[in-house]
Parts: sequence; C-alpha cells; structure tokens
Amino acid sequence: MAKRALITGANRGIGLEIARQLGQKGWHILMGARNAERGAAAAATLKKQGITVEPVKLDVSDPESARDGFQEVLRLTDHLDVLINNAAVLYQEDQSLLSQQPGFIQDVIQTNALGGLLVVQVFRPLLLPGSQVLFMSSGGGSMSDPVGGWSPAYCVSKTLMNSICRHLAFEMRSMGVSVHAVCPGWVRTEMGGAGAPQSVEQGADTMVWLADQGPQGKTGLLWRDRKVVPW
Ligand SMILES: NC(=O)c1ccc[n+]([C@@H]2O[C@H](COP(=O)([O-])OP(=O)(O)OC[C@H]3O[C@@H](n4cnc5c(N)ncnc54)[C@H](OP(=O)(O)O)[C@@H]3O)[C@@H](O)[C@H]2O)c1
Repeated sequence: MAKRALITGANRGIGLEIARQLGQKGWHILMGARNAERGAAAAATLKKQGITVEPVKLDVSDPESARDGFQEVLRLTDHLDVLINNAAVLYQEDQSLLSQQPGFIQDVIQTNALGGLLVVQVFRPLLLPGSQVLFMSSGGGSMSDPVGGWSPAYCVSKTLMNSICRHLAFEMRSMGVSVHAVCPGWVRTEMGGAGAPQSVEQGADTMVWLADQGPQGKTGLLWRDRKVVPW
C-alpha cells in the first residue's frame, strides 16, 4: 500500500515541493491548505504530473478547521505514515520585539509553533507505531547560533516550535512515533525571497529523505543537509 503523508501549508513553496517529491516516490499525498481554492489548484497541478494527491482544507491556526480537516482526512485514510508540519508565516512588519504589538507576536506563534502542536493533537489517532511527525524549523529558531537580528517574532516562534518538537518526541516515544525537526536552509520561495541561495528542490531534500528513508529508532533530533545538528 502507498505510504500516506499529510503536509500542512503545502499549496506553495517548500511544502508543495515536498508533496511533489514524495508523490513522485509513490506516496499518497494529503495536501493541507488553509484556502480551499489554492489547495485544489495546487493539487490539480500535481495530479497532472501523475501524483496521487487530495487537497484538505486545514488552517493550522484554527482548532475548528483542524477538527474539520481531520474528519476530511478520515474519509481518505485510516492512518498517516508521516505528518509534516510545514505551514508558517513571516511578515514584513516583524522588525522588533520591543516595539511590536503583543497581538502580532501571538499571531505568529499561534501559526508557527502552536499550529503544529494543534495538528499533532488532532491527528494523533492516525499516528500508529512506526509513523513520524516532522516539523519544518529554521536556523532562526536555533539557540546555538548567534541572534541574527531579522524577523524576531518568527525566530522566537521557531525556537518554541523546536521545544515543542523535543517534548513531543519524549511523550510520543512510548507510542512508537518518532518526532524530528528539519532546517531547510535559506530557500527561494515567497518567504525566503528571490535572493536565497537554495532552490526549492534543495530546501525539500532533507525533509523528503527523512520521511521516505530516514534512520529508524531515533527521535527528538534536529536535521540539516541530512545530518543531525545542535538545537
Ligand atoms: N524559505 C526559507 O528560506 C525558509 C527557511 C527556513 C525555514 N523555512 C520554513 O519552511 C516552511 C515553508 O516555507 P516556505 O518558504 O515554503 O514559505 P511560503 O512560500 O511562504 O509558504 C508558506 C505556506 O504556509 C501556508 N500557511 C501560512 N499560514 C497558514 C495557516 N494558518 N494554515 C495553513 N497553512 C498556512 C501558506 O498558505 P497560503 O498560500 O494560504 O498563504 C503557504 O502554503 C515554513 O515552516 C518556513 O518557516 C523556510
């Protein structure tokens, strides 16, 4: 049976490329998108390339949307081999923590960090022993790199995501579910901008490798370029 992946925020950027690469390897893709039309259009593009894909309306910042998305996915599959938390926002106004409105920072954290946790909580019944939960992190969330001075609310949200990932790895070990995070590098997407050094294919590579043939028996690690790196 084809392996099944749910990927959030998969209608464009790195998420779409992960869907394409896993789909080309024969995976059945459940393409999460917060906007139904954008999701359907992206899924139609992949279907034309011979990929088995279903769009699923899923706004990771909205508990009701997550529950509705779960019901939609239940009609399509009884399990997930991999759940990829990829959806995120990065706003131009994200220039300073000192002068930012609290609501703005909460919004970024709600999507980028708590959104992934919400999706894991809601989709947990589909995660059987041997499955994986993978979070798309960022170098901006790292506590071992110097603070870069860019998009601080986004960076804080990714640090929180990393912490959530590590705690979930601990909690889900007894369920036989491994949980990891991936740093894709700086990638040419709407978020990364045209000047980023990496193509979207390169940005998707480690996540696709981990999903499809990553090492068994490991959990709670941060990966970059197919190697474990410090949190
Ligand atoms: N690009 C980089 O250089 C880079 C570097 C490090 C980490 N990352 C991480 O890689 C992941 C993908 O980034 P990207 O560059 O592909 O970004 P992108 O091109 O901006 O795409 C972001 C995706 O997330 C979706 N999204 C945003 N909020 C959502 C929500 N509440 N619910 C569901 N979907 C939502 C967007 O949907 P809409 O189309 O509806 O807006 C879009 O599909 C993110 O986690 C990002 O933080 C990227």
